[in-house]
Amino acid sequence: MVSVTVNGQAHEVDAPPDMPLLWVLRDLLHLTGTKFGCGIAQCGACTVHVDGAPLRSCLLPIGSVAGKQVTTIEAVGQTPAGARVQKAWLDLEVIQCGYCQSGQIMSAAALLNTIPNPDDADIDAAMAGNICRCGTYVRIREAIKAAAKSV
Ligand code: FES
Ligand code: FES
Repeated sequence: MVSVTVNGQAHEVDAPPDMPLLWVLRDLLHLTGTKFGCGIAQCGACTVHVDGAPLRSCLLPIGSVAGKQVTTIEAVGQTPAGARVQKAWLDLEVIQCGYCQSGQIMSAAALLNTIPNPDDADIDAAMAGNICRCGTYVRIREAIKAAAKSV
């Protein structure tokens, strides 16, 4: 059993410590907003926050997050930065197919928590690991700037 706190709720999950966090979230805790894309930490679809840092859950062993705070797309809207990012995403109609977008939002919210007014270079650096096959990058950049201004 592994103890993990997800979205403020403590769980005891019956999983080996090397099981990826993404598997635990989706298959054991039924939090399916976090997506499986590549499985090799190359696309960002599986991004969650661990103690506020954006990490790729597809390669993160559940044992490594024991005792830490995990936040997923299901709860990031309850944080100030997450709420502003989600509103900007809707206002600017960022989403196309949507598959990458929970990961995009998690990375964007983490960025605003560390750099409240990011410039283009900051945004490019923070979002470089989040791939969008629909090419929504221009709207993502605009939405991050809008979220930053909406404080
Ligand atoms: S599924 Fe984790 S980075 Fe692609
Ligand atoms: S919105 Fe389709 S992959 Fe990003």
